[in-house]
Amino acid sequence: MALYSEKVMEHFRNPRNTGVIENADGVGEVGNAKCGDIMKVYLKIEDDMIVDAKFETFGCGSAIASSSMATELIKGKPVSEALALTNQAVVEALDGLPAHKIHCSVLAEEAIKKALQDYYEKQDTTHSSGQ
Ligand code: FES
Repeated sequence: MALYSEKVMEHFRNPRNTGVIENADGVGEVGNAKCGDIMKVYLKIEDDMIVDAKFETFGCGSAIASSSMATELIKGKPVSEALALTNQAVVEALDGLPAHKIHCSVLAEEAIKKALQDYYEKQDTTHSSGQ
């Protein structure tokens, strides 16, 4: 059996949503100390909807495929759904990852959560500075 599913290979070779969003509403950067891989997610949010999501991943093929799939899964969805995205959902959407590569999908979940946290923090600052 192949180590990686067709979907993983496809998203690795042809990743969706790579790049940067200028003036993003939320940015989240996470890393894995063991492998040294880094993932940065940018979100554009309007009316509580993720209208755009992009990523830069300096990491392994599974991390690239995970960020590609994770951004696809949250684009066009409400913030509440993006917050609920689990690495397990990313793995399932990719038709599985080898056990030693599960942590790559965890990075995607964490990067999105961190970007959403950044979004909420920015909202708070905007609100309090406007008062
Ligand atoms: Fe660390 Fe893939 S090996 S993110």
